[in-house]
Amino acid sequence: MFIATTIADCRAQRANLAGPVAFVPTMGALHAGHVTLLAAAATMGRHVLASIFVNPTQFGPGEDLTRYPRPLDHDLEKCRAAGVAGVFVPTVDEMYPPSEPPCTVDVPALTADLEGRFRPGHFAGVCQVVAKLFGIVQPEVACFGMKDYQQLRVVDAMVRSLNLPVRISALPTVRESDGLAMSSRNAYLNPEARRRATALYKALSTAKIMVENDGVLEPGRVEHAMKLLIETHGLSVDYTALRHPSTLTPLDVIEPKLTGGVVALVAARIDGVRRIDNMVLGA
Ligand code: PAJ
Repeated sequence: MFIATTIADCRAQRANLAGPVAFVPTMGALHAGHVTLLAAAATMGRHVLASIFVNPTQFGPGEDLTRYPRPLDHDLEKCRAAGVAGVFVPTVDEMYPPSEPPCTVDVPALTADLEGRFRPGHFAGVCQVVAKLFGIVQPEVACFGMKDYQQLRVVDAMVRSLNLPVRISALPTVRESDGLAMSSRNAYLNPEARRRATALYKALSTAKIMVENDGVLEPGRVEHAMKLLIETHGLSVDYTALRHPSTLTPLDVIEPKLTGGVVALVAARIDGVRRIDNMVLGA
């Protein structure tokens, strides 16, 4: 497995690989969700390449950029065990040379609301780094988790709109046994907060029952029920939303036969730690 820290080295190593490359971009602190992406990537390409880069441009002021976990040796071991052909681990200066004027990309129709409303500039940072990584790694396919549903939709739209020659593959959210979505940020939760964090999954499961079993048609009723349930567990809700699964626009009514279903998205804070989750309903 090669480990490239410079763009030139990553390009040179990639050029030596014959056949399709499947790429998994990450910020490290790899868990079973990431490992599932690496395993899925192995079925899609002849070689799997991964990146580990805590991208500063997608963090807002006061967010967790400096304390984001960076267990590099442990991450490289996981990549090796997953049969990854190479890992790109650049420094911040390598990705963003101070001499280079920054270039940003955005998909405003998909980024103004939900996470974008609470994390201004976040998706411009994600698009910037993902576009750069695609240009460096030049994969045939790139794997993204549905756990970050809005990110997945934004990256997919960017790739289509800019005609980037890469296919985006979406993989289901990997959860702990009690439903909590796996996340590098779960490490910030103490055991008591960790227990209460399951409220997000409970709220999404309730929404699923309301839509799929009880035939509730008003998005507002489902959103309100999710909010109440999360608040009952002592979390501060940023949003609970039912949206169109690809445009992320609000719905007037939940169409029972809507192709692709509807997506329920939630964001809440537990002791200052922000967690997001989502579930596609009625698909
Ligand atoms: P990171 O949070 O490290 O996630 C890397 C990839 O793993 C993303 O596609 C994310 O959706 C996926 N992932 C995370 N938790 C998951 C889970 N529980 N189940 C399934 N997939 C999961 O997302 C980022 O990094 C960054 O924004 C990045 C795309 C690398 C750009 O910097």
